[in-house]
Amino acid sequence: MRKPFYVTTPIYYVNDKPHIGHAYTTILADVLARFKRDLEHDTFFLTGLDEHGQKVQEAAEKRDIDPQKHCDEMAPRFTRLWKRLHISNDDFIRTTEMRHKKIVQLILQRVMDNGDIYEAEYEGLYSVSEERFITEKEAESGEFRDIKKLKEKNYFFKMGKYQQRLIDHIKSNPKFIQPEHRKNEILGFLRKPLNDLCISRPKSRLNWGIELPFDNEYVTYVWFDALINYITAVGFGLSDNKFEKWWPASYHLIGKDILTTHAVYWPTMLFSAGIPLPLSIFAHGWWLMGDSKMSKSLGNVINPMDLIDDYGVDPVRYYLMREMVLGHDSNFTMESFIQRYNSDLANDFGNLLSRVTTLIKKNYDGVIPEPGELNDLDLVIKEKGIALSKLVYGLVDEMRLNDAIEEIMQFIRMVNKYMEENAPWKLVKEDKVAAGKILYIAGEALRLGAVLLSPIMPNRSATLLNTLNVQGKSLSWGGLEPGRRLKDHEPLFPRIK
Ligand code: MSP
Repeated sequence: MRKPFYVTTPIYYVNDKPHIGHAYTTILADVLARFKRDLEHDTFFLTGLDEHGQKVQEAAEKRDIDPQKHCDEMAPRFTRLWKRLHISNDDFIRTTEMRHKKIVQLILQRVMDNGDIYEAEYEGLYSVSEERFITEKEAESGEFRDIKKLKEKNYFFKMGKYQQRLIDHIKSNPKFIQPEHRKNEILGFLRKPLNDLCISRPKSRLNWGIELPFDNEYVTYVWFDALINYITAVGFGLSDNKFEKWWPASYHLIGKDILTTHAVYWPTMLFSAGIPLPLSIFAHGWWLMGDSKMSKSLGNVINPMDLIDDYGVDPVRYYLMREMVLGHDSNFTMESFIQRYNSDLANDFGNLLSRVTTLIKKNYDGVIPEPGELNDLDLVIKEKGIALSKLVYGLVDEMRLNDAIEEIMQFIRMVNKYMEENAPWKLVKEDKVAAGKILYIAGEALRLGAVLLSPIMPNRSATLLNTLNVQGKSLSWGGLEPGRRLKDHEPLFPRIK
């Protein structure tokens, strides 16, 4: 039995309108989950929504409706998009669900019983937009809006107590925070003393949250609530079997904007509650528009629905996975999208498919020819095809998805060159058997390429495999069956003009 694989995305703010940034993390998790399923790992893929907090309460007040109703009305904007993008999540968690609220209270009580929560009067600067107390220095940075002075009794989590244990854990588990430069960022942050964390909000100020189990005048700070989703969904406190199967998570995928909460708050919470830490937190970079972050206020947000409507789901998934070097920022431009589509998908991949199918239809009555005896040049392709899957899966394991895709495309380009050199369209007039062998090899290479690309482009890969009239997704050479008839297909990747 292979190791179970549990992957999560951040739970997105229900108030936000989903954009390409949200879509990116979710597609990334989907692609990893699909690769793992193809490798026959038991896989659990979680995404969901973060529904408590001030912004939701305010938005609901503005609309003069109940916050729960507001959330219920907003949530489908995400679920609809995930459906459109063929996201294969196994669960969808919303923090307003009863199953989650119970677990948050359970954890709070545990942490309290361990002596890690205390009450204190605190006076400080509070950022309404961030929904937390900020330091003088942060206030001066100019990055925070709506700052006011606040004096309040609140509950605090003894985060500082776990500082050294966290540092030790990060140092002895090199994969815990990825990539490397993010790990160093957190170790740098942990060089200064770690403050305790204010984990409550008085109901007089905010009531849209999970009530503290030990004081009904307070609700839980939204991040303390949200992070717990990762264990709620896999049965913590409910089903030991389920929880033991999936936890610790293989990957929490996040954007770099929420690294501290995941790499500092979350592990210290888990330490206190006596729960093992996730195996790896992977922070990717941002999609930028020009040189600035995509944001509603800048008005430069790409709506994934529009892109899908214009170019289809799979090309969008392909572009996002191919263009971003994981861990770094990437620039989204329509020019690069169109260029990538035309060169990789229309030219390299689409051309090979149409050449192979057209020639087989014209000269072999649409029936896949026999592979025959392979010479040295043919063997080069076959050997490369056999080695490819190991190479690709290895790169995926290292989270080098763009390189994994590039390897597949290089193989396809190599086969295109092989076709040109052998010119089966000429050869067929003299030696039908020899030309058939070349078409078989090219067809088999296409099949392998489609199998390996299927986590990234599930729909068009399936169409291609169906066109080649093959079942299953074998990675051994020879899955293409001579004697079977090709099926008709629409052009898979028509050129964008
Ligand atoms: N609700 C919190 C997360 C709680 S997780 C326990 C949150 N939500 S969010 O709606 O703001 O989503 C943030 C995430 O969306 C980022 O971490 C990232 O995964 C994704 N992205 C949002 N904008 C992005 C870009 N411009 N580029 C890439 N991904 C970005 O924070």
